[in-house]
Amino acid sequence: MNSHSSSDQNTTALEAALAARSSRLPGFYRLSVAQRRAIVASWAGLSAAEANHFDCGLPLERADAMIENVVGCFSLPVGIATNFTVDGRDLLVPMAVEEPSVVAAASHGALMVRAGGGFVTAVDEPVMIGQIQVMGLNAEQMAPACARLRALEADILAVAHAQSASLPRLGGGARALEIRPFPETPAGPMLVVHLLYDTRDAMGANAVNTACEAIAPVIEAATGGQVLMRILSNLADRRLARASCRVPVAQLSKGGLEGAEVARRIVAANALAVVDPYRAATHNKGILNGIDPVVIATGNDWRSVEAGAHAYAARSGQYRSLTDWSVDETSGDLLGSLELPLALGTVGGSSRSHALAATCLKVLGANGSQELAATVASVGLAQNLSALRALVSEGIQSGHMALHARQLALAAGASAEAAHRIAEQMVREGSVRSARAAELVAIGG
Ligand code: MEV
Repeated sequence: MNSHSSSDQNTTALEAALAARSSRLPGFYRLSVAQRRAIVASWAGLSAAEANHFDCGLPLERADAMIENVVGCFSLPVGIATNFTVDGRDLLVPMAVEEPSVVAAASHGALMVRAGGGFVTAVDEPVMIGQIQVMGLNAEQMAPACARLRALEADILAVAHAQSASLPRLGGGARALEIRPFPETPAGPMLVVHLLYDTRDAMGANAVNTACEAIAPVIEAATGGQVLMRILSNLADRRLARASCRVPVAQLSKGGLEGAEVARRIVAANALAVVDPYRAATHNKGILNGIDPVVIATGNDWRSVEAGAHAYAARSGQYRSLTDWSVDETSGDLLGSLELPLALGTVGGSSRSHALAATCLKVLGANGSQELAATVASVGLAQNLSALRALVSEGIQSGHMALHARQLALAAGASAEAAHRIAEQMVREGSVRSARAAELVAIGG
């Protein structure tokens, strides 16, 4: 078959996938940037102006208004992960990341899960925690202070609720107080009041911090203590997102290994991350390899997601894996799940003020913060699946080398299609070098 007919077939398959709104886009990775962009624009119904944000998502004047002392912008590649089905909906997932293999691994993980029906998710209501620290109470004053706070809970919540005009209108706002005495700390006894606050489709840091500052004087009057800290907690464990999947065992075979053996090895690899923090740190880093790029592409605060994920991973007192993998005894399929706090917004913050973030949100089509969290958790689980499958079989370097070879071929001037052939040849020869790429490009691949 000549290359012309294979590219025609590819185009037809892509057109059919687009018409069916399938995220299974065969050969997407072989297209040029312009072709991929056209497909994504048509998938998401992007205007020309919205699609142009892929070139310059952040004009300098906008950047200058976002932070202080601006001298420029820092760019990251934005790739599209394909093959995702989340809760029955096909999605194209924008990922902003500098690390090679991440987008390919997410797409491949999603492809394996797709064969088992896709990801299934469950996401909590978007309830954040704000902390108010009360000092100056001795051991005897602690219990009466707690009782007065309980008695005044409704009044305190009303003050917190009144701080936002928009969130209560949208069904959000102050929900409850939790009172946590710490009788012994290095700074003496203290009381911590948690304000539980539903931030709807916002990440909500501003709303929560404003409400915490507003109720601080009421809490001082009620307790007779002095308020010190008033700030949200990044351990957003009332805002958990869960993704789970079933991977048909046949999907897992790799490098001469049967799928069932790969499944058993993945379960054993996960067990190491349950018992050993040294492995758990790397395991969870691999999950965040999928999560952070979507969080960044959608203009969200990835430091807060990282802080929440790691604190949640350590909630038992030992730092552990965020995922669970097991084998279904009846079918032999691999079952996976991931649970972590995801404080994400689809309104406010830079998710709207950064033009490319707004475009990426449109590509994703996330209808609110809970849907975004569902997708982000699914990408984390897909990423972990791909990493573990590679690690328990041939290791991750051979996949990296194939992608690296393709990058060398492209840099040596190969077309997208030729780059694929040249890369395969260099990997076969065991000679992945820029000089060899240049030779192969010169002789026409
Ligand atoms: C590399 O960025 C991520 C991995 O180390 C994750 C893992 O080991 O699970 C491959």
